[in-house]
Amino acid sequence: MNVLMAAPEAFPYAKTGGLADAAGALAAELAKMNNRVLLVMPFYRTVKERFPARFFGGPFEVSIGEHAFIGSLYRHENAVFIGCDQLYDRPELYGTPSGDYPDNAVRFIFFSRGIFEAARVCGFKPDIIHCHDWQAGLAPAYLENIYRRDPFFSGTKSVFTIHNMGYQGVFRAEVLPLSGLPPDIFNPEGIEFYGKVNFLKAGITWADIVTTVSPTYARQIQTPEYGFGLDGVLRRRADRLRGIINGIDHRLWDPARDRYIPENYSAPKNLTGKGVCKKKLSSLCGFEDASRPLVCFVGRLSHQKGSDLAAAVAGEAVAEGVNLVFLGKGDEPYQLELEALGEKYPKNLCVRIGFDEEFSHLVYAGSDIFLMPSRYEPCGLGQMIALRYGAPPVATDTGGITDTVRNYLPLSGAGTGFLFAEASPASLRQSLWYALCVYRGAGRWRGVIRNAMAEDFSWRKSAERYVEVYREAMGI
Ligand code: ADP
Ligand code: GLC
Repeated sequence: MNVLMAAPEAFPYAKTGGLADAAGALAAELAKMNNRVLLVMPFYRTVKERFPARFFGGPFEVSIGEHAFIGSLYRHENAVFIGCDQLYDRPELYGTPSGDYPDNAVRFIFFSRGIFEAARVCGFKPDIIHCHDWQAGLAPAYLENIYRRDPFFSGTKSVFTIHNMGYQGVFRAEVLPLSGLPPDIFNPEGIEFYGKVNFLKAGITWADIVTTVSPTYARQIQTPEYGFGLDGVLRRRADRLRGIINGIDHRLWDPARDRYIPENYSAPKNLTGKGVCKKKLSSLCGFEDASRPLVCFVGRLSHQKGSDLAAAVAGEAVAEGVNLVFLGKGDEPYQLELEALGEKYPKNLCVRIGFDEEFSHLVYAGSDIFLMPSRYEPCGLGQMIALRYGAPPVATDTGGITDTVRNYLPLSGAGTGFLFAEASPASLRQSLWYALCVYRGAGRWRGVIRNAMAEDFSWRKSAERYVEVYREAMGI
C-alpha cells in the first residue's frame, strides 16, 4: 500500500526526541515490508546543511491569511522535504530554550498543506496519510474538509499518531481563518478548545484512526490526569483509538555492532566490553573513582522527564558512592539546575547540556543504571535503549515504561528494571537505593543485565500492527 508518512521530525534528518526515531524507523520498516512509503517533513536548516537533498518540484503557493508563502520540494532517497526558508531555515526545529517560535502556527499550517502538494507533485496517491503529532494535526482536517473533493485524494484515509498529549499546538482563535479551514469547524465538536484553536484536537477529531505509542498510554489519556484537557475528546473516539508500542532500531542501537563505543559487547557471555565503555565514559567525565556504580540520565530537560527529580536525589546518590552523568537539552531552568550540580560535585557528577547523538551511545553503554523518573511517558525509547545496552532502568511505572520494563523480583530473579509508582524524589530515591543493593550483590546484577539485554524491541511487530490499523482505516 502507499503510505505517506507526515512527520515534523524523522531520524536521520532532524531529531529533538523519540518521535524522530519512531517516524524514521517505522517508515524504513514499512518499506522493507514492501509498502511504498513517502516520508514528508519540513526542510529545516539542519537537513539542508547535512543532506544532499535535490530540488524536486514547485514552486507551489499556499495563502495563509493575507500572505502567500512559496514552497519548493526537495528529495533525498525516500524522503521529500517541504522547503520555505522564511519558515524553516532556522537554528532549531520548534523554538529555543527560552520558548517556541512565535509563528509556529503558520509554520505548521504551511507544512500540513504542503503534505498534499508534495503527494501531488510526486504523483504519489496515498492510501494512507499517517500524521504525527500536533504539527501535522491539521492534515486530517484538511483531508476531510477540503481535499476529499479532489479526485487525487478521494481514496485516501488518515491515521493520526499522538506521541505526547503535553504538546498540543494551541493558538489564538484568529489562526483558524489563516488555515483556510471552514469557519464552522470552530466549535467544541471540532477544532475549538476553550476559545482557542487546537491542532492536536484537529488530528484526533478528523483522523480515521487515532493511535498512540503504547497500550497503557492509550488508556491513561482517556482520564483527566493524563488527557491534558482532551480526555473527553479521546473518550468520544475510544472505538477508533489504538495503542501501539514503538520499537527501537536494532541496527542503530546494538552494543554488539555500535560504532560509537570503544568496545562492543553482547550478553550473556561477552560482557567485558561494557567495562571498557564504562572506563572510557568515566574518564571523559573526569570521574576520580571509576569503580563506583555509574548512573545516567539521557533526555529532554522538561517537566515530563523529571530531570528535577533526579537532580533532587543527586547529592545523596553521590554520598552513597555513585557517579552520575546527565546528558540533556531543554528548558532553561532545568539546564541551570543541572549545571549548578555539575559544579558542586565535579569529581562525581558530569553534566553535558546539548543534543549529542554519538555521546549518548557511550552513555548508554558505559552506564550501570539508567534513570527515567518521568511524570508521564507515552512510550519512551530511552528505557528500551538502556535495556538493550545492559543499563537496567530505575523508572516510573507509567505509560510505555509499564509496557516495556518488567519490575525486578528478588526471589525468582526475574525482571529487567526497578519501577516506582509515583514520580517523586522519595520514590525515585527508594528505587535507586534498592537497585544499588542488587548491583552490589554482583551475581544477581548479572542476572538483571542478562534479562534486560535479552528483550526484543525490534520494529517489525509494531510495524505489522500499523499495517493492520491502515487496513482498518481503509475498511479492508
Ligand atoms: P522523548 O521523545 O519524549 O524526548 P524518548 O525516550 O521517546 O523521549 O526518546 C528520546 C530519544 O532522544 C532517545 O533516542 C534518546 O537517546 C534521545 N535523546 C534525548 N536527549 C538527548 C540528548 N541530549 N542527546 C542525545 N540524545 C538524546
Ligand atoms: C514522545 C514521547 C515519548 C515517545 C516518543 C516517540 O516524544 O514523549 O514517550 O517515546 O514521543 O513516540
